[in-house]
Amino acid sequence: MGGFHCPLGAMAPGTEGCIDCGLCSADSKAEYARAAELLRAWIREHAPRPAAVRKMAVCGKGGVGKSLLTAVFARSFAGFGYRVLVVDTDESNPTLARALGLAQPACCLRTLDDQFAPVENGEWIRDSMTIDEIPAKYRSDSADGRLSLVTTGKIEDPFQGCACKLGVLARELMLNLKIGDGEVVIADVEAGVESFGRGVERGTDTVIAVVEPTMDSVEVAEKIRYMSEGIGISRMRAVVNKVPSPEVGEAMEELLTAREIRRLGTLPLSGDVSMHALTGTPLSETDETYGRIRHMLELLLDENEMDHPFVR
Ligand SMILES: Nc1ncnc2c1ncn2[C@@H]1O[C@H](COP(=O)(O)OP(=O)(O)OP(=O)(O)O)[C@@H](O)[C@H]1O
Ligand code: SF4
Ligand SMILES: [Mg+2]
Repeated sequence: MGGFHCPLGAMAPGTEGCIDCGLCSADSKAEYARAAELLRAWIREHAPRPAAVRKMAVCGKGGVGKSLLTAVFARSFAGFGYRVLVVDTDESNPTLARALGLAQPACCLRTLDDQFAPVENGEWIRDSMTIDEIPAKYRSDSADGRLSLVTTGKIEDPFQGCACKLGVLARELMLNLKIGDGEVVIADVEAGVESFGRGVERGTDTVIAVVEPTMDSVEVAEKIRYMSEGIGISRMRAVVNKVPSPEVGEAMEELLTAREIRRLGTLPLSGDVSMHALTGTPLSETDETYGRIRHMLELLLDENEMDHPFVR
C-alpha cells in the first residue's frame, strides 16, 4: 500500500477495520468514485449520535425572522417542559421580549453603571454557571419559571461606544453557561456573520440560519454554513421564511441543496405574523406559523433522539 492511509484506519485490505471499499486498490476514476461512495455511506451509518441540542444560535441576514424563530423555539421548548434561557444579543430592537411575552430584564448584562465589570472581574460569568445562578436582576422570567430572557445590552444613546463588548459578553455567556439535561439556551444573534467573528457561536452545538427568498440571504446562509463547519458545529440547519408561493419555495430548496445546506423547514409569508408585529403582541400558540415552527423543533429533537422531559 506504500504511503496509503486507509480512511478507516485499517493497516491493510482484509485486516481489522477494513470494509473492503476498494479505495486502496482503485486504479481508475470510476473505481475511486465507487469506493469513496461506499466509504461515505459507511461513515454516515456509523457516525456517533450527535450530542443533544443544548446551546442554539439563531442567525441570518437582517430582518429575515431570527427573533420570530427564537421566540417560538423558546416557547415551544418551554412547552415541552424544558428550562429555557434566551439570550438577546441584538443591540437595538426590543422585538424579542415582546415576541416572548416577557418584560425586558431590569438590567441588561452590560449596564451603564458597571461598565462591563461583571465580565472583567469574573463576578458572575464564570465557569460552569447555571441558568438559575444568573442574578435575578439580569433576568426576566415567565410566571411558570420555565422561560427566562437576558439581554446583553442595548445601544440607547448617541456616542455610547461600539457594540463589540456586547459581543464579548454574549460569547462569554454562551461559552460558560452550564446547561444540564432538560435545559436549553438560545441566542438570537445580530444580523449577518459578524457574530462569528466575535465568536458568539463558539459555545453552541446548533446553528439555525433563517433565510428569506433573496440571493443576499442565501449567500449569508452559505457563509454561516461555512463558518459553522470551521468552528466544528456540525448541526447547522436552515429555515426558509417569508415564502410567498410554492414556486419560490421550490427555488429556495434548490438553491440551498446546491450549497449543501440542510433545510429544517419552510414558513410562508404570513398576514397573521405581520399583524402581531404591528400590534407588538406575541404569536398565539394556535397560530399556524407557531405550529409550523414548533413542528420544526420536534423534527430537530427527534433527529437527535432527545426526549421531551416533562409534558408536551
Ligand atoms: N413568515 C413571516 N410572515 C410575515 N412577516 C414576517 C414573517 N417572519 C417575520 N416577519 C416579520 O419580519 C420582520 C422581521 O422579523 P424579525 O424581527 O423576527 O427578524 P430579525 O431577523 O430578528 O430582524 P433583525 O435583523 O432586525 O433582528 C418582523 O416585522 C416580523 O414580524
Ligand atoms: S479496502 Fe477500503 S477499508 Fe479496506 S483498507 Fe483499503 S481503503 Fe481501507
Ligand atoms: Mg431580531
